[in-house]
Amino acid sequence: MTIVVPGRANLIGEHVDYNDGLSLAFAVPYDVRVEVQPGGDVVQLEAEGFGSYRQGTDPAHEFERQAAAVFNELTPAPGTWRITSTLPAGAGLSSSAAYLGALVLASGARGSLIEMARLVQHVEHVAGSKVGLLDQLATLGAREGHLLLIDFHTLQYRDVLWPADLHLSAVDTGVRRQLATSAYSERREQCDAARATIGPWRDATDDDLRKIDDPVVRARARHVISEIQRVGAVNDALARSDVARVGELVDESHRSLSSDFDVSTPQIDDLVGRVRACAGVLGCRLMGGGFGGCLLVVHDGSFDEQPRFRQWALSAASGAFERLALAR
Ligand code: GLA
Repeated sequence: MTIVVPGRANLIGEHVDYNDGLSLAFAVPYDVRVEVQPGGDVVQLEAEGFGSYRQGTDPAHEFERQAAAVFNELTPAPGTWRITSTLPAGAGLSSSAAYLGALVLASGARGSLIEMARLVQHVEHVAGSKVGLLDQLATLGAREGHLLLIDFHTLQYRDVLWPADLHLSAVDTGVRRQLATSAYSERREQCDAARATIGPWRDATDDDLRKIDDPVVRARARHVISEIQRVGAVNDALARSDVARVGELVDESHRSLSSDFDVSTPQIDDLVGRVRACAGVLGCRLMGGGFGGCLLVVHDGSFDEQPRFRQWALSAASGAFERLALAR
């Protein structure tokens, strides 16, 4: 048996998955594979580029801790699991969600998309990262040629056709997310504080921001409210194939992530400026949790030739459910 789980990219809707917001994400053509060879008495993991881990032994490295979290929660059949990956590790394309998703599926767990996304999220929480549901839903549930519009308030989702003239790339910031875990929890706490004052995010408007006294918490809330609005606006622009408008909204998202949500750095803002200045670029923003990882670039198709940056061409690949022909 071979399980393949891709990474994800997020066109728009950042730091709103844990705020009952909306995101437009997709599965990327880079993935984590687990080849299962039954036999033996426990699971023996052989992860190319990382090392080996035997179920039941003390985990030392991050990839082992994550595997141990899966093996403690589930009851996989014994065997040798060979893991290979074409996803750059830690570069902001959700290598963690893909790796954990692959281990969970290889362990034999099955269920609806929401149940499986929650299970992978649960394991990630057990392994120490209190993430939202964005990465799991996109890596498991996205369809080839489509973005997945996810409503985190109702947990409903819808496939949105990828317009032919939408060109996206990911540019490596080279920064591997230091600060990220503590800052991520701090942002979640600040968002919870804002919500306690203004009520449900989806009913909140800019006027509500005046009710928040703390200027930092107010700025975090301004990002959440405006980002949720931008997801709707990007969805409308995609329906009209208005890629220039998508680019503008992606630029606005970066300004909001940088000044209101404060998850960028001067070095990353500088890189965004340099990418933005390249011919054919229509928009650029920091993608994912922040403080590193990669940038998302909206362009006219010519940026792929740009040699100045380490980059990956993005397109909408099949999520794990589609690959395994599982019903969502
Ligand atoms: C990380 C988390 C996601 C989401 C993004 C920010 O990627 O894993 O749940 O919160 O940050 O949008």
